Amino acid sequence: MKILIVGNGGREHALLWKLRRDAPGAEFFVTNPNGGMRGATAVPLAPGEIQALAAWVQANGVELTVVGPEAPLAAGIADHFADRGLAVFGPCKAAAEIESSKSFAKALMKRHGIPTAGFRAFDQLPEAEAYLREVGAPVVVKASGLAAGKGVVVCETLDQAFTAVRDMLGGTAYGTAGAEVVIEEFMRGEELSVFALTDGTDVVAMLPAQDHKRIGEGETGPNTGGMGAYAPVSLATPELIERIERDILRPTVAAMAEEGRPFRGLLYAGLMLTESGPRVVEFNCRFGDPETQVVLPLLRSSLLEPLLEIARGGSIAGARLEWDPGAAATTVLASAGYPGDYASGLPVTIPAALEAGGDVIVFHAGTRGEDGALLTAGGRVLAVTALAPTVAAAARRSREAAERIAFEGKQLRRDIGWREVARAGGGRA
Ligand code: AMP
Ligand code: GLY
Repeated sequence: MKILIVGNGGREHALLWKLRRDAPGAEFFVTNPNGGMRGATAVPLAPGEIQALAAWVQANGVELTVVGPEAPLAAGIADHFADRGLAVFGPCKAAAEIESSKSFAKALMKRHGIPTAGFRAFDQLPEAEAYLREVGAPVVVKASGLAAGKGVVVCETLDQAFTAVRDMLGGTAYGTAGAEVVIEEFMRGEELSVFALTDGTDVVAMLPAQDHKRIGEGETGPNTGGMGAYAPVSLATPELIERIERDILRPTVAAMAEEGRPFRGLLYAGLMLTESGPRVVEFNCRFGDPETQVVLPLLRSSLLEPLLEIARGGSIAGARLEWDPGAAATTVLASAGYPGDYASGLPVTIPAALEAGGDVIVFHAGTRGEDGALLTAGGRVLAVTALAPTVAAAARRSREAAERIAFEGKQLRRDIGWREVARAGGGRA
């Protein structure tokens, strides 16, 4: 069997790792594979070249294409593949709007009574400013379009909120993503990332995870793509997961179908666990990064089977996933300067023992191989996942392994999983 993975970050490396375990005999292809995706054949096309990718897949007899990032999904890659009768895992363009248009997602939730923060959407500055004066701070201002995780400003003061709406609606900093803003009620609580596999009707929730979006320890400093993650999360009891499925995941999938945008693929619910129950912070139309790097290593049953079924337009009714009883934590190693400007092309050294398998898996994100050397090639360079019986032990092992990898200016957080460790009463991880 031939399988193509679109995308070349840490999430896609974890998808490759898991699918290869599920199908050891399969032949894997990746768009411009990073330095760690060994054994996969390079496809010399970018994720955005969707027509050319569809033609390539058809010509080469690829039986399954798995799309990692949101941009090609928002651009309609799944529609192009479906037009040619090709099996693709990832939602069509109209369904991907659940991520690519925050104003669509918010309005959908409102229409269908799915719990989320109160909000209004604006494309005119005076109206947005008047609304801010009415609601006051704290308040959250979001660029409606795709902004690579940088389009959200949590504002403690009204002045910050005025600046944010002016930057988005009046300025050029956010491009077209900021032509519309969503102004949201501030929610308090812990966040939880829940992935759900769905065929457009049935929903299978995966193991919930928690990620660390801020660059600095103790959740300080600017937001990033994600500096680490862990699973499982003890707050996510079976009762809470059942409630999330009942109140959020199933109604959202049903709402999308009802509105003529059937969502087939991976629905990622970013939730806030508030005093009044779980509420949606955002939806994504694809696997999360770096949550995938902790969720997939704990998945004992096949990922390939449900992905294939969904990609072929089949049903996952009655499907069950089996999970290992232990825990996983991942520590991201980022380039100096990230999430701002950073240098690339610096040599990376990974001790051979860490890549030998066992309880540590080094997922590559922004790396490339050149003449036998491994070089940095992105803001987030590696995600070092460790498996252990508890989150505290996994986090410690992940940190120790991350410390042993070297490149100039390496940044990492040494407090991955701190909330879970505190809950377990285990002191510092
Ligand atoms: P998003 O890109 O929508 O996930 O937002 C990025 C981060 O901003 C989230 O992970 C939250 O930490 C924070 N955030 C977004 N919306 C809210 C909200 N309504 N209340 C509190 N924090 C929020
Ligand atoms: N970890 C957050 C995201 O993938 O959007």
